[in-house]
Amino acid sequence: MVEARMPSRGTTTVTVDLGPRSYEILIGRGVLGSAGSEIIARMPDARVAVVTDRNVAERHLGTLTESLTAVGIEHVTVTVPPGEKSKSFAGLETVVDAVLAARIERDDAIVALGGGVVGDLAGFAAAIARRGIGVVQVPTTLLAQVDSAIGGKTGINTGHGKNLVGAFHQPLFVLADPGVLDTLPPRIFNAGYAEVAKYGLIGNADFFAWLETNWRAVAAGGPEREEAIAIACRAKAASVAADERDEGVRALLNFGHTFGHALEAVTGYSDRLLHGEAVSIGMVLAHEFSARAGLAPPADTERLAAHLAEIGLPVRIGDIPGSKPDAAAVMEHIAQDKKVTRGRLNLILTRGIGQAFVAHDVSVADVETFVAEKLST
Ligand SMILES: NC(=O)c1ccc[n+]([C@@H]2O[C@H](COP(=O)([O-])OP(=O)(O)OC[C@H]3O[C@@H](n4cnc5c(N)ncnc54)[C@H](O)[C@@H]3O)[C@@H](O)[C@H]2O)c1
Ligand SMILES: [Zn+2]
Repeated sequence: MVEARMPSRGTTTVTVDLGPRSYEILIGRGVLGSAGSEIIARMPDARVAVVTDRNVAERHLGTLTESLTAVGIEHVTVTVPPGEKSKSFAGLETVVDAVLAARIERDDAIVALGGGVVGDLAGFAAAIARRGIGVVQVPTTLLAQVDSAIGGKTGINTGHGKNLVGAFHQPLFVLADPGVLDTLPPRIFNAGYAEVAKYGLIGNADFFAWLETNWRAVAAGGPEREEAIAIACRAKAASVAADERDEGVRALLNFGHTFGHALEAVTGYSDRLLHGEAVSIGMVLAHEFSARAGLAPPADTERLAAHLAEIGLPVRIGDIPGSKPDAAAVMEHIAQDKKVTRGRLNLILTRGIGQAFVAHDVSVADVETFVAEKLST
């Protein structure tokens, strides 16, 4: 038997503290190669169904399956097409059918090897197949490592919108290997970087300043990348522990997302604007709106925009390729995203870098004026 490959450097462990559903996030270059030993240590008799997409399979599936074989874990693989379309009822049917055909039982495991699409889809399949099978999240995009693989939100899209059908299903554990991000196209890496920066903007000004100094090393894949992922994971884990079902403080994680979701929607959820890119612009807009309201220093908007632009992210609506979105359509999506009560809505605003808060009483008319202005200049 081949010895399971061990992580080449020290592994950082972050715990998501959820009482009986608590779990660990193991972060370190090389942890993908120790997936088999990590699974067998927790579930000695488990069989495994690996769910992945074609892009990830080509680059990283071999390392995972070798590590399973090395410790004698029987496994099957389900490969879905890359892209958001796989997060559908049809994609779900494919995965659930394959899991059932392989006779994966409740004490076995599903391993989600991929970005947020695979994580959400495989996580949801795990939540409903046999009324609940354990899932191990092995995120392979930066966005998935710092956000979607943690917290147990799973689901698919329908004709009515994104993520409208799903379940909370916390993973057994999460393996985040910063090394697998080496094969990501830079644009997809950067989109995830916007979510990393978000944690600094929400509540950790020191982390934001650290990113301003260290972003090149984070992108290049040095130990700084691991550190940034660990800090982001700790922040996400703390929000999830405080608010598992997203009914309160976890809302802060949506900083920049109301504007961002609206921009994603009006650009057709297409390649024109990736989610993280929309969040990048959305966070700058949230800062600027807060500055206009006299809540935050205007200089922080410029500082944020300069940093995100330096990475290569779009920071203004004008940075979106193609024709300018229509202001009325953007407003309609904002109103849809947020329940409007008597001309007021909830929006996450900020008092400056590291000081986001939920504002409960924002005037829709003010948002409308702001959006109209941003789209006319
Ligand atoms: N569950 C949650 O809490 C949560 C949070 C945020 C986002 N999401 C969801 O996450 C999804 C977006 O996730 P994403 O940005 O990871 O997109 P994705 O899963 O579509 O991955 C982006 C692209 O990168 C490719 N890829 C993935 N890993 C790779 C690697 N290591 N090397 C080369 N290519 C690789 C994929 O095949 C895909 O083409 C959305 O569906 C969104 O709704 C969920
Ligand atoms: Zn996001």
